[in-house]
Amino acid sequence: TGYITLDYGFKNTGSTQSAVTFLDGEKGILKHRGYSIEELCEKSTFLEVANLLIYGNLPNKAHLASFTESIKGYQLVHENYRKILEGFPSHTHPMGILSALATTLNAFHPEALDPHRPNEQVDLSIQKLMGKLPTFTAWAYTHAKGIAHNYPKSGLGYVENFLHMMFSTKLKEYEIDPVIVRALEKLLILHADHEQNCSASTVRIVGSSNASIYASVAAGINALWGPLHGGANQGVIQMLDEIQADGGNVEKYINKAKDKDDPFRLMGFGHRVYKNFDPRAKIIKKDADAVLAKLGVSDPILDIAKKLEETALQDSYFIERKLFPNVDFYSGIILKAIGIPTLMFPVMFAMGRLPGWIAQWKEMRENKEPIGRPRQIYTGNTDLEYKPIEMRS
Ligand code: CMC
Repeated sequence: TGYITLDYGFKNTGSTQSAVTFLDGEKGILKHRGYSIEELCEKSTFLEVANLLIYGNLPNKAHLASFTESIKGYQLVHENYRKILEGFPSHTHPMGILSALATTLNAFHPEALDPHRPNEQVDLSIQKLMGKLPTFTAWAYTHAKGIAHNYPKSGLGYVENFLHMMFSTKLKEYEIDPVIVRALEKLLILHADHEQNCSASTVRIVGSSNASIYASVAAGINALWGPLHGGANQGVIQMLDEIQADGGNVEKYINKAKDKDDPFRLMGFGHRVYKNFDPRAKIIKKDADAVLAKLGVSDPILDIAKKLEETALQDSYFIERKLFPNVDFYSGIILKAIGIPTLMFPVMFAMGRLPGWIAQWKEMRENKEPIGRPRQIYTGNTDLEYKPIEMRS
């Protein structure tokens, strides 16, 4: 079988060639299709960045308009989704709901199961996913709250519609605040892709078996759910709340994180690739301050977050291991200020990451990559004698 290299966690193994996202972990650079994350955050909308990631170029006006219109047309979901949602206990984690609903798209749109469809038809599945995922996300929330689901409204933009579906009630239409819309746009852009991370690799490997784009993205959602990946933003707020309830004793939690006998880790700290700083964290930290100021919200956990960051960055444990705040350290503070509940944070990450998963899946398909099938180094027995059950100890 030849020589097999062992690389736990694929720390040093390239699984593909990709032209989607460039990342320099030493210098803290992140670029999508050649454009810096700083500039995209400043100048683009989320759908523009989605189009860039999926199709490779910044769209002109006409392309962006037709992409946007098509996605809008797909925001409505089949009425049976009400019944499907009713079946979930109200305490179901919204990531579980989101991945389940993404999988059910195979039932309502089975044409996606044909791996040999022409690209134009694949595009329609892509736009369906982009249209329906925010509706699923908002409906997961209204289901948990036990309130009526909202339909998307035709006059609203992508992010505005999401906020409307989340927060409008029978009694009161949600008031769109441009500050909140822009903050959310930026947050989604910041999460839009991050090359071969755990969920993107999952999407590619599942897709490499010719599974449908819906099945592949559903797998990506499940991979993102874990607290070491997209679940970290939920973990950060829970940790900051806990520190606050514990009298704001930041040092105690730093020491816990350093203690090798304690499984606790500082959530929102450290990154597999960034070893100086996470450029997304830099942008988001500034934004957290600005959004809270603009919304007139004061949140004591922002002070705890800052103190935790300052203390950790001066501590030799974190310095030696090059552990810095990552994107999720401050994202939860913005989401909380917008009124999104903590359990919903990972689903917000999923909504942002969707175009990245799609771009990675599409690239894998267009590259005609072989089925993903890692090897192993076997360490078990090879020559045991079979014992009948009555003779086993
Ligand atoms: N708190 C305390 N110690 C840590 C932390 C942390 N947050 N992160 C890493 N370390 C230590 C780890 O114990 C190890 O120490 P030692 O060398 O003494 O054994 C060393 O740093 C290297 O860590 P690692 O786990 O080998 O590094 P990794 O590249 O496998 O893991 C990570 C990267 C992001 C999973 C990890 O840093 C972590 O668990 N962070 C907390 C969870 C988190 O914030 N995740 C969000 C990542 S960014 C969003 C995304 O893209 O998903």
